Amino acid sequence: MRELDPERLPVHLAIIMDGNGRWAQQRMLKRIVGHQRGAETVNMVVEHAWRLGIQYLTLFAFSSENWSRPAIEVRALMSLLKKYIRKETARMMRKNIRYNVIGNRSDLPVDVNETLDEAIKQTSVNTGMTLTLALSYGGRQELSMAARRLACDVRDGKITPDDISVENFGTYLDTGGLPDPDFLIRTSGEMRISNFLLWQLAYTELYFTETNWPDFTINEFNKALIDFQSRERRFGKTSDQISPRNKPSNA
Ligand code: FPP
Repeated sequence: MRELDPERLPVHLAIIMDGNGRWAQQRMLKRIVGHQRGAETVNMVVEHAWRLGIQYLTLFAFSSENWSRPAIEVRALMSLLKKYIRKETARMMRKNIRYNVIGNRSDLPVDVNETLDEAIKQTSVNTGMTLTLALSYGGRQELSMAARRLACDVRDGKITPDDISVENFGTYLDTGGLPDPDFLIRTSGEMRISNFLLWQLAYTELYFTETNWPDFTINEFNKALIDFQSRERRFGKTSDQISPRNKPSNA
């Protein structure tokens, strides 16, 4: 297998962490046990991404659609998230990692929001990796909220319809200020985007693995990154026009 090239890592890596429930059910365990094991994989991925110097890591932790799961699972997931953030904030401080959240925070329980506020405030001084948690997040919801904000700015005379462009539309999204993801990993064999970062994934390289999230290992993570490095990213241009950074490692 090829070696990982530290010079050609994705600047922004996004992950759809799927398969916790199936992992648990295959072992006759409760679904929440799958989420608990999934949180351990989160730790491994954060640690490894940080070690490699990846600047932005975005994790799809809870979708707008996940609210329709059984109440007991939703409660358990919220409690797990709160515990994780509380427990790991000290580590984020040591590693200079900044927390960020995208999604509809007004849907989240008050105690989860308080914990997030505290963690975001505390880690806001950090300048290393930005760890974004997508919570109560849906891409269509984000786009429609952005359209609302933009319409208000037009109404208030801050911009005119002619000012709207691909560049400034992005600033109305929850991810305003973050670069678009270079690479997206989805675990558990499902080959879809599931309403995640619909605008931002326009030119993202996609990677799907059969492995359920709790079984996703550091070796698999490296394998995915090596696969990313074998891709030629042309952004609509010809192969001759693109920079060496976007050429496959073996080219
Ligand atoms: C999808 O698996 C996963 C989720 C809905 C939640 C993801 C949560 C974690 C990985 C744990 C906590 C997160 C953090 C950031 C600490 P699924 O339940 O849809 O699996 P299934 O498709 O097999 O049912």
